[in-house]
Amino acid sequence: MSTAPSHSRPARPDHAQPWYRNAVGYQVYVRSFADTTGNGIGDVWGVLDHVEHIATLGVDFVWLNPVYPSPGLDHGYDVADYTTIADDMGGMEAFTALRDALHDHGIRLLMDIVPGHTSDQHAWFRDALTGPDAHHRDFYVWRDPAPDGGPPNNWESIFGGPAWTLDEASGQYFMHRFLPEQPDLNWRNPAVRTAMEQVLRQWFERGIDGFRVDVAQGMLADPDWADTADPTPDMTRDEANDLRFSGYMGRPETPELYRSWRAIADDYDALLLGEVYLSSPELVATYIEPGLLHRAFFLPLQHTDWDRDEVAAMIRPGVDVGHGQFAWPQSSHDDPRAGSRFGGGAVGARRALAFFHLIACLPGTPVMLAGDELGLDNGTVPRTDAEDPVTVRNADRDDGRDGSRTPMPWNDTPNFGFTSGTPWLPLGSNRGPGDTVEVQSREPDSPLHRMRRFLATRSTLAGMLATDEVTWLATDDEPTSTLLGLRRGDVVVVCNFGAATTVDLPGDGELVAASSDDAEVDGARLELGTDTTALVRMPG
Ligand code: NOJ
Repeated sequence: MSTAPSHSRPARPDHAQPWYRNAVGYQVYVRSFADTTGNGIGDVWGVLDHVEHIATLGVDFVWLNPVYPSPGLDHGYDVADYTTIADDMGGMEAFTALRDALHDHGIRLLMDIVPGHTSDQHAWFRDALTGPDAHHRDFYVWRDPAPDGGPPNNWESIFGGPAWTLDEASGQYFMHRFLPEQPDLNWRNPAVRTAMEQVLRQWFERGIDGFRVDVAQGMLADPDWADTADPTPDMTRDEANDLRFSGYMGRPETPELYRSWRAIADDYDALLLGEVYLSSPELVATYIEPGLLHRAFFLPLQHTDWDRDEVAAMIRPGVDVGHGQFAWPQSSHDDPRAGSRFGGGAVGARRALAFFHLIACLPGTPVMLAGDELGLDNGTVPRTDAEDPVTVRNADRDDGRDGSRTPMPWNDTPNFGFTSGTPWLPLGSNRGPGDTVEVQSREPDSPLHRMRRFLATRSTLAGMLATDEVTWLATDDEPTSTLLGLRRGDVVVVCNFGAATTVDLPGDGELVAASSDDAEVDGARLELGTDTTALVRMPG
């Protein structure tokens, strides 16, 4: 049954296509976007204050990281109540104002749903802890100890240490893929599914346009509780993690969980965008089969260096199996920003922009993290100022995520206009006035202006956006080539990962966009500068 919300949603320009078909996403890590209260932590009012910036950028939807009530041990991914917005984030009043302001600009709003685990402060878990007969006991995953009294098996938590914590009162262990303060929900219990479906409906009724689904490949654990094998040295980081966490990640029955979610979301014309953190594109694609999630992030792309072969090895199979339903991340709050991965500073910014031009031309959904439009690299955060539990709780780990979460630089005032108080994370000693929105707004060739111009142009490329068919350019097959090129509809897209070169086009073309000034088309020849992506429209 469709229950239309009472307020207005952005008009859908083309009724034959869902609104998200060619949408560009903008991730707002709210804590680091803009603080309006002076407590040093960004809030929903702060997002409202900058809706104009988001609208000028030309993105189609905003994905807000979690803003529900939370003790904040994993910065919002430890949800204590799914049904409302935290007071210190601005509460429901700020949410409503933001929703309406975005909709007034034709921008959709995605919230972040965290279905795999709650905070240990959630009422369900507080109840579950009262004993084995508690009403919500079976909302969580409990096991008896191993014969030696230790954890039930060798599963490790992603945030370090065992994936099991002993509840001394009952003598049973509860499971947690992440922190002990983030107990896992038991998705084999139908009552959990019903409860979460109610949460989805409630937010759709409130007029949101979709959810990013946290750890969508998690949710179910191996029903045999078998020990997992150790990775071997020849494995990539992503393959090793897939194996290490295979007891509770990527179980083959998981995608089916989303069938009921999809039916609910489609009633509201809403988008379900899964964080499906698996290395195999074929496995990621099992989550977007008909009737399941609308879109799935292909996240290993977020681990690539500025390396043609590495990027091609991700993008080509991803496009092949993604059928226009993969989401392509530029950066996120969980991995180093594109600017850092690609060399940092001006070089990293130039390459990151070229990379975004490339992924935004692939069939599917490009998503940037707030700050990517400025070409930011990671902010420097000394270990002593770390906030991420990955760093704080593991002296031996250097994969903490604070660097991509440092505050958004707005202008050249103290704290770059982010807060009047003390920022919850350092601003990053590597940041300067040239990184700010205000300064870049004054410079026509800044990353910000280039990004705005590119997104405006992209939205006019109807001949490209109309199709999901891609052919790869033959130049890519030459082993020494630095080029990755494709044709989608009437547009040829070429990204040059190396020094300036010349590209033979399939015919005379017209340059419609480029990530730097170093691109020129003369008939069927494209002169392409170093670290640059060009889009060339082919007539006919
Ligand atoms: C994935 C989120 O992106 C990450 O930030 C969080 O720590 C984990 N899920 C746990 O919820």
